[in-house]
Amino acid sequence: MADKKIIAVVGATGAQGSGLVRAILADPSGGFSARAITRDPNSEKARELARLGAEVVAGDVDDEGSLKKAFAGAYGAYCVTFFWAHFSPQKELAEATAMARAAKAAGVKHVIWSTLEDSRKWIPLEDNRMPTLQGKYKVPHFDSKGDADQVFTAQGVPTTFLLTSFYWENFIYFGMGPKKGPDGTLGITLPMGDKKLPGIASDDIGACAYGIFKNGGAFIGKRVGIAGEHLTGAQMAAGFSKALGQPVRYNEVAPEVYRSFGFPGADDLGNMFQFNRDFSDAFCAPRNLDASRKLNPALKSFDTWLSENKSRIPLE
Ligand SMILES: NC(=O)c1ccc[n+]([C@@H]2O[C@H](COP(=O)([O-])OP(=O)(O)OC[C@H]3O[C@@H](n4cnc5c(N)ncnc54)[C@H](OP(=O)(O)O)[C@@H]3O)[C@@H](O)[C@H]2O)c1
Repeated sequence: MADKKIIAVVGATGAQGSGLVRAILADPSGGFSARAITRDPNSEKARELARLGAEVVAGDVDDEGSLKKAFAGAYGAYCVTFFWAHFSPQKELAEATAMARAAKAAGVKHVIWSTLEDSRKWIPLEDNRMPTLQGKYKVPHFDSKGDADQVFTAQGVPTTFLLTSFYWENFIYFGMGPKKGPDGTLGITLPMGDKKLPGIASDDIGACAYGIFKNGGAFIGKRVGIAGEHLTGAQMAAGFSKALGQPVRYNEVAPEVYRSFGFPGADDLGNMFQFNRDFSDAFCAPRNLDASRKLNPALKSFDTWLSENKSRIPLE
């Protein structure tokens, strides 16, 4: 244990971080140990990680001092922010800045920063194809992560910029699962036209991150995209039909219709899907499937994910 390289994992009880903690713990001879950072080391999820063999420490991305302590002595750190906890791009940037500064202060040798594209590089604010949100963003939860890339670079932190993909778990937890239409047939509703959306099983994000850490410094300074598959709405609907044993159709809607759905963040997600649709090739290209599978040989396909998770998908 003493000579293992410690990976400090922000969001260790969440989707991305827990996948990384579990991947480290599943490979006892891999040379790494997992330090799980949580706001509450006594929570059930934190205690479960401790039972599995993780070191559990307190830390909060809104408290830079706590992060410095949590990163102390670590070789690596996995840094992720929690946009949907507050919907504030400014807060997300401040949290990423706190992590970058703490990693620098602690002398962390390799940070993986879980980021996304700054959509404004493709759709400048003056482009009226989609509304500008919160004053200076097109896709707030993407753009603020893109802004934060520069902070890790400016701090001189040895960083891999990990471009994540749409979690298929959104069909379980984010209200995006199949719903019955007026004729009683199930359907998934997305404003993706006939374009492909890179998707991934959320725990494969952490497993791919582990693959990056295992490669030593090879990915430092690099942007690494990951996805389990690139699928159209129709292909995802076909996957659901097969897994659920009943027809599931793809309801294609316009992005402006999606933005008007009224749930919190509908405008941000409507813009996100429009960005994913209109720049599908540019968005899919860096999320290479073979490269993702090299990092994580157990990478799941959508069909595999569905076979493991279909009973968890809430159906009306
Ligand atoms: N949903 C998608 O399809 C998707 C795709 C790509 C990227 N993303 C991005 O993924 C990010 C969220 O990551 P996730 O899905 O892994 O999160 P998550 O599953 O919601 O997990 C959040 C975990 O982070 C911890 N946390 C929350 N606030 C914290 C704070 N202030 N300080 C320290 N820890 C805190 C919580 O742990 P404790 O309660 O134990 O502290 C919680 O278990 C978002 O920024 C989102 O934009 C999402």
